[in-house]
Amino acid sequence: MDARATFGGGVAVITGAGNGIGAGLARHAAALGMTVVLVDVDAEAIAALGRELPGSVAVVCDVRDPDALESLAAQVYSDVGPVRLLVNNAGVEQFGYLWDTPVANWDRLVDINVSGVFYGIRAFLPRMFAAGAPAWVWNLSSIGGVVAVPLQTPYIMSKHAVLALTECLRLEVELAGHADRIQVQAVLPGAVRSNIFEAAGGVDGGDVEAAESQRAAMLDIKAEAMDPLEAARVVFDQSAAGEFYLLTQPDYVGNAMAERAEVLAQRRAPVLRTKQRFDPAQQ
Ligand SMILES: NC(=O)c1ccc[n+]([C@@H]2O[C@H](COP(=O)([O-])OP(=O)(O)OC[C@H]3O[C@@H](n4cnc5c(N)ncnc54)[C@H](O)[C@@H]3O)[C@@H](O)[C@H]2O)c1
Repeated sequence: MDARATFGGGVAVITGAGNGIGAGLARHAAALGMTVVLVDVDAEAIAALGRELPGSVAVVCDVRDPDALESLAAQVYSDVGPVRLLVNNAGVEQFGYLWDTPVANWDRLVDINVSGVFYGIRAFLPRMFAAGAPAWVWNLSSIGGVVAVPLQTPYIMSKHAVLALTECLRLEVELAGHADRIQVQAVLPGAVRSNIFEAAGGVDGGDVEAAESQRAAMLDIKAEAMDPLEAARVVFDQSAAGEFYLLTQPDYVGNAMAERAEVLAQRRAPVLRTKQRFDPAQQ
């Protein structure tokens, strides 16, 4: 089935919908005929997007708060309708050597990128099971979920964690007898234009220059990054086609996945690259 036939007419809940990938997914979901619940801590951003997308609902909610996600799920099921698509998308970056990383930045990143996904699952999955209708759950991992990159260790770790969580969750949904209705899928974007590097944490002391040059290197990628609306179209189409790994740039991200499989199969130690990001040209 195509994306419109699969998702049109349903309700989509998207965390981190105020900017970047989440906003692209929200716009495309609305274009497919979905009612979109825009969830973010950035009240202004979701209010503005809400005005652009008639019929959407903007809810300020911090994914670090399990009670807030529980209230969100209750509110959506009572006031908007059963959820066809949950996107656990909110995420933040962090630059710098691990030993320089402020504990508060580490805690915040893990709370948003990893625990936030868990809280979303905890609040929405039982309601999806009870509703008995087809539903999809997308968790945002990354190309960073299959590579090792220095100076972004907490982020890369969190994206490996989300990938593992999503793979295990898919098995649990099958084990519990819901796989005929509930599709769990992992989204692995490559480079998509967003605010994530500007909004990223850095370090207060230690090697500030290393942290900030890594931020600058990542900001350089923005010029060649994919448009979030185009990324959304690709992801919706792959999801509707029943893929498990949803890749914004199938060649680029697929190469990184193949490289990861080979590194593990050959038990190769991580290799320091001249550009500290995944670049298939450097393989
Ligand atoms: N942009 C890329 O190239 C890229 C690549 C791979 C993976 N990703 C992943 O895509 C997701 C979206 O990232 P993006 O690049 O669009 O970033 P972004 O910074 O443009 O957007 C992230 C959104 O999440 C919101 N947010 C932050 N903390 C929150 C919280 N506690 N509760 C609710 N919302 C919160 C922000 O306000 C923002 O609107 C992230 O999980 C990121 O790791 C992005």
